[in-house]
Amino acid sequence: MLNQILEDLKNEVKFGYLKKKHPFRYPSLASIEDNVPVQRTVVLRDSTQDFELIMYTDERSDKIHQFEINPNASLLFYNHKKLLQIKVEGKMKLIRSGKDYEDYWSRVQGKSQKDFITTNPPGTPIDNPDHVEYKDDEHHFCLLKLVPERMEYLQLKRPNHIRAVFDKTNNWEGQFLNP
Ligand SMILES: Cc1cc2nc3c(=O)[nH]c(=O)nc-3n(C[C@H](O)[C@H](O)[C@H](O)COP(=O)(O)O)c2cc1C
Repeated sequence: MLNQILEDLKNEVKFGYLKKKHPFRYPSLASIEDNVPVQRTVVLRDSTQDFELIMYTDERSDKIHQFEINPNASLLFYNHKKLLQIKVEGKMKLIRSGKDYEDYWSRVQGKSQKDFITTNPPGTPIDNPDHVEYKDDEHHFCLLKLVPERMEYLQLKRPNHIRAVFDKTNNWEGQFLNP
């Protein structure tokens, strides 16, 4: 049964980028800055064969610096229709060159490219939201790849909630937890 829950967990996360408007498309990504947690919403873009989770960002955003100093990351997914929560924790890899990098950048088309070509870095104070300037000669696209080390599944339901944890150090063998 635990094996099946692990498969369900992975499939549910994949729906985030496979199914349009799925709630798992927008997980909350946590990093650490000076021992303080920092969270933000991101878009889940893809996963690899080894279930590494792919996101995009601007290489100048604060999270990049945070992951360079401390690669520990946590992604939290919640599906309000299913009352299902999934946590994926692990180390964040920052990818700024190479074949995968070029492949994913080539998928970012048209207006979506604007997110990665602002003149000022993300978080720069501006006078007016209409006053964002763009470059046309370079971009700041960065791939984020979360390599999972621990994953947790929590399904609220009657008569029994189901909570289970899966650890890489334990060969991904599962363990039920009191919810
Ligand atoms: C619906 C939604 C989707 C977002 N998707 C992304 C994303 O895929 N990548 C990203 O870097 N920021 C995304 N953001 C913006 C982040 O939440 C965050 O504000 C930004 O990345 C700066 O974060 P940082 O300063 O902590 O690095 C999204 C925000 C919202 C509201």
